[in-house]
Amino acid sequence: MHPNHLRALAAALATLASAVTLSAVQPAITMTPFGTLRDGRAAQLYTLANSHGAKVAITNYGGIVTRILVPDRDGNLADIALGYDTLAAYEKDGATTGTYFGALIGRYGNRIARGQFTLDGKTFKLAANNTPGGIPCALHGGKVGFDKVLWDAAPLVEKDAAGLRLRHLSKDGEEGYPGNLDVTVTYWLTDKNELRIEYLATTDKATPVNLTNHSYFNLRGEGSGTILDHVLTLNASRYTPVDKGLIPTGQLAPVAGTPFDFTKPHAIGGRIETQNEQLLFGGGYDHNWLIDRGSAKSRALVKAAEVYEPVTGRVLEVLTEEPAVQFYCGNFLDGKNAGKSKIAYKKRTGLCLETQHSPDSPNQPAFPSTILRPGERYETATVYRFSAR
Ligand code: BGC
Repeated sequence: MHPNHLRALAAALATLASAVTLSAVQPAITMTPFGTLRDGRAAQLYTLANSHGAKVAITNYGGIVTRILVPDRDGNLADIALGYDTLAAYEKDGATTGTYFGALIGRYGNRIARGQFTLDGKTFKLAANNTPGGIPCALHGGKVGFDKVLWDAAPLVEKDAAGLRLRHLSKDGEEGYPGNLDVTVTYWLTDKNELRIEYLATTDKATPVNLTNHSYFNLRGEGSGTILDHVLTLNASRYTPVDKGLIPTGQLAPVAGTPFDFTKPHAIGGRIETQNEQLLFGGGYDHNWLIDRGSAKSRALVKAAEVYEPVTGRVLEVLTEEPAVQFYCGNFLDGKNAGKSKIAYKKRTGLCLETQHSPDSPNQPAFPSTILRPGERYETATVYRFSAR
């Protein structure tokens, strides 16, 4: 063939290939059955894909993010979210060990002291479903929190993002909380390799609300060892020290000069074994940092955290409208939970950065309020942004 014809043919083929690629890589969402709950209801698994090949899988059981596939510095995808491959494993985990892998947490993310609070002169009793240091408290919404309900789900596709809208009506009195709480959570996987989570809730009686997501990340890939060499930066110059029951003392303590100072990047394992009462209480890091929001408006996204994994170059940035972030480095993972790759998740093999209001706010008048009243809208967003360098 004449070289000019060959060149023309090659150009035509390239155009065709890029057209095919273009049409194949629009943001998309697919739905597959994810199994049946013990009570017979069917759950679905929704896989969101963006135009760069990143994927996030979410089930409407607990709004659980089951997989996050993002590239390393060479473009290799790995699943960086801890989790299970079956619905039954998630259902069983919730009932026993309570890792809350990837789940939506509510009505109140984090702990409430003694499992009770007083609101407008009335005392409300919650299930004390957690006993750190032998001291009972309410944790993550109770026995059947938002991580264990089957949410109504609607797939969404936009030009530059695939999404999943989840809705749950939490009934008046559910888990001891007052008011019918109408909750909508929308997950988006954007073409900027961001997982954006938008929370919305309204109520017909005053109630505490503190919603978050409980994804555990291992940026080298789930099941590939500890996260102790991940390098963490927290945009936070204060944190809330806790008592041995992991309830804030009420103090907003400076991190300066302590192993809690991540205002400059530090390997998570660098100071974790330091003799320090707070590290002893948490069994490592399991604390709430107050984000330095400066003069940012309440509905502005502010960078709370950055995690860098040196081997793969993966980076996770966390941006949020919330005032605080719980950094938990998987101290309670004990190897009893075998994950997707059948590898047991041992101590500190995943880390959580749960954006939220501080623990026990309903009993801590000095902390920003978590009370939602009729006529108000609880509206907040958090972005997990993935990249590599
Ligand atoms: C808490 C931990 C708890 C974990 C799983 C985290 O949000 O801070 O103390 O063990 O959730 O239950």
